Amino acid sequence: MIANIHNQSQGFRAANLYANICPFEGDSQTGVASMCKAKVTFADIGKTVTVPEGTRLIDISGGVGSGIMYGCRQCGCGRCMTEVVAGEDGLEPPSVLEIKVLEHHEGGANSRLACQVKVRGDVTLRPRPQA
Ligand code: FES
Repeated sequence: MIANIHNQSQGFRAANLYANICPFEGDSQTGVASMCKAKVTFADIGKTVTVPEGTRLIDISGGVGSGIMYGCRQCGCGRCMTEVVAGEDGLEPPSVLEIKVLEHHEGGANSRLACQVKVRGDVTLRPRPQA
């Protein structure tokens, strides 16, 4: 599957997106633990992926087919506004800039910017409808 993605016109970027999703869940026979600790569920498509802590949502949402949209990808436009359905503690706290952008775009409670937020635990998200 990664090879097919790599052959698309934006293959390099798509391959990098998938590189953040952990294919290895550990091995009970060898005792090798998985490096992947965070389960991210995209409620809009009913899909859960396991990723390393510190992974940005922007690096996985497109690769799994979530409907989270992006614009500037630099904490400016608010287009990637995402609703945290469950597991708010599974995300790094927002930066001052992210809070300002969320306020400017009337993000409201449970909103985060997918281009900025890093995962640190289990969380469930869905795209916030655009105005
Ligand atoms: S894509 Fe513009 S703020 Fe996230």
